[in-house]
Amino acid sequence: MNSEKAAHTPAPRGRFITFEGGEGAGKSTQVQRLVAALQARGIETVATREPGGSPNAEALRKVLLSGLVAPLGPAAEAMIFCAARIDHIDNLIAPALARGAFVVCDRFADSTRAYQGALGKLSDQFIDGLERVTIGDTKPDLTFMLDLPAEEGLARAGKRRGAEAVDRFEAENIDFHRALRTSFRAIAEKNPQRCVLIDATRTMDEIAADIWHATEQRLLLDVRA
Ligand code: TMP
Repeated sequence: MNSEKAAHTPAPRGRFITFEGGEGAGKSTQVQRLVAALQARGIETVATREPGGSPNAEALRKVLLSGLVAPLGPAAEAMIFCAARIDHIDNLIAPALARGAFVVCDRFADSTRAYQGALGKLSDQFIDGLERVTIGDTKPDLTFMLDLPAEEGLARAGKRRGAEAVDRFEAENIDFHRALRTSFRAIAEKNPQRCVLIDATRTMDEIAADIWHATEQRLLLDVRA
């Protein structure tokens, strides 16, 4: 083996796409559609979600969404979301990217910044530090921020939930959900290289078309078939 060449050839890396937004923004549907479109192009694509995505992280998801952790306060809650994220990265995301696959994840670190930040007024320094030690180099290449008014999102989430009880975050008041929207929009504005703000008040087909167009423009043109 030519060790000189190996030292200069970067390891193949797939692409990491995340979806973010408040409640009822339609992320799960759009994740499924994008995954199907990428697979139809012959690209190995893994769909996953947070909190969760690996067995240990799914166990933490149950605890987090039950509200059991809330009494510990927003800093501790943020740390447990990050603990789940570390397991998810180590066991699913990083290995998939290392073998050249695309990973499409429903929520990631921006959700901690927006939700735990909005909830607990955690400082930017605290969130920045937590993000750095949690994700390291596993940063998304592309993030879709699905944006819609908080009232509309909550109404949609309520319809989807039916008779089931609201979870820990859906149960927060409307001011919290409005602050979330502001926070996601601010993240998108601050990171235009990575983030695409998507108007999620439109039809599923219109939204999916925008997402596919941005994925082609930003990621597929530089991926060798
Ligand atoms: P979802 O799968 O329905 O989006 O539910 C996940 C919930 O967890 C949602 O209310 C957002 C919340 N959440 C956080 O508060 N912080 C996080 O870091 C993540 C990933 C999710």
